[in-house]
Amino acid sequence: MEWKPHAVCIPLPAQGHINPMLKLAKLLHSTGFHITFVHTEFNYERLVKTRDEASMKGVEDFQFVTVSDGLPESNPRGILDLPALCVSMPTHCKNSFRKLIEKLNSSPDVPPVTCVVSDGVMSFTLEVARDFNIPEILFFTPSACGMWGYLHFDQLLQKGYFPFKDESWLSNGYLDTIIDWIPAMKGIRLKDLPTFIRTTNKDDTMFNYNLESVNNALKTGSIILNTFDDLEQEVLGAMKSKFHNIYTIGPLSLLSEQIISCEAKLKSIEASLWKEDEKCLEWLDKRDARSVVYVNYGSLIIMTPKQLREFAWGLANSRYSFLWVIRPNLVNGGTEIISQDFLDEIKDRGLILDWCPQEKVVGHPSIGGFLTHCGWNSILESISHGVPMICWPFFAEQQMNSLYLCTKWGIGMEIDTDVKREEVEGLVRELMDGKMGKEMREKAMELKKRAQRATKQGGSSYINFDLLLQHLKGEPV
Ligand code: UDX
Repeated sequence: MEWKPHAVCIPLPAQGHINPMLKLAKLLHSTGFHITFVHTEFNYERLVKTRDEASMKGVEDFQFVTVSDGLPESNPRGILDLPALCVSMPTHCKNSFRKLIEKLNSSPDVPPVTCVVSDGVMSFTLEVARDFNIPEILFFTPSACGMWGYLHFDQLLQKGYFPFKDESWLSNGYLDTIIDWIPAMKGIRLKDLPTFIRTTNKDDTMFNYNLESVNNALKTGSIILNTFDDLEQEVLGAMKSKFHNIYTIGPLSLLSEQIISCEAKLKSIEASLWKEDEKCLEWLDKRDARSVVYVNYGSLIIMTPKQLREFAWGLANSRYSFLWVIRPNLVNGGTEIISQDFLDEIKDRGLILDWCPQEKVVGHPSIGGFLTHCGWNSILESISHGVPMICWPFFAEQQMNSLYLCTKWGIGMEIDTDVKREEVEGLVRELMDGKMGKEMREKAMELKKRAQRATKQGGSSYINFDLLLQHLKGEPV
């Protein structure tokens, strides 16, 4: 067996975290690393069910392995189960991860593990890596602005903003409080910060889990972020006071286009937890350029049947064509609105699917705008193709992402949480054909160029990826 550096990559077991980690793993593989990519047993089973099992065998020097997340088989692992996952993983997953490293290091078939690349919110892996004397780096998959919010959880606690005194603080205007002491975030309001602060429980699992993750990261001194310097310069500048190294290497899909030369070999390696419905690409092929609104809320968020109904009629009444992904577990309640009457109303103007190949869809010339929940991957994918957005942030750092999209980068317009069909209709019209929509499209195209520049040879993300390689190989950076 040939000696190679061996990276073990372990994402949080959720789609929005698996995707960027897999991209990074492929990049490392293409530069000569042996890769062990860790899924949870639950997700691995799901992946096998939705595809040809051979594709889960990996390719030469790229293997998939599993660890237990500790939750019972029957648990659906949806958004409401995140706290249970965060309680279970630091014990079960950590033990399972320890056994995995032991096994890898005693296997004659793979080189010994030389580094661990772990999701920032799987920071319990640091203890295992330390015990084996293996260097580890954390990869935080949200935006830098989102991460900067999490990095202030400690102060929010110290200064008494968290926990909320009582439930009324959620609706009495308290969320509009301006936080004037976070550097590089002038005018930020409490409601823009990651939503895990919105609780009256000082022992809240999600708040404390995220707080611990960033505190662990601060001790390591180095992090990876999927963003580019030109996009989040101000926040990144402030964040440099906290870390020795911030490897900003995004957008990862654009960097991959530059660095991975034999994409065909790695093509079979993907990890969509739902089956991608490719027929939408043919449907898009038949539409005019920039004539379709793409609507997708990512892999985790849930909405009420009423919210779904408002989106449905807003889209229908806008009279624009739309490609709408309604994930099977998106609605907490029924999806009756998607009735025969509704389908008759939209005729062939609308296509509704369970799940799609999003990167191909966003990059399709027929797409004119993206109505998104502001998950960071969706935003980067949209920016990478110069597509402006309508924002309906839901949780975590999505509110912060939306704020930056709408007020700093000028490529987004936000819909009220209490979504109304008239607002959806109006914003879709503005996005597709209004003056503001036009300006947003121009700015999005400009940002696309800047993202391309960052990921080309000599660009900041390209250079940072080289530095990250040195870091992972233990060479001086
Ligand atoms: C989220 C966000 O990353 C983040 O805002 C938050 O911290 C919690 O997790 P998610 O809600 O899934 O993840 O959104 P997003 O970051 O946009 O990731 C979704 C990924 O799934 C994207 O890479 C997207 O291309 C892919 N996807 C989504 C599909 O391939 N097909 C679909 O139909 C929908």
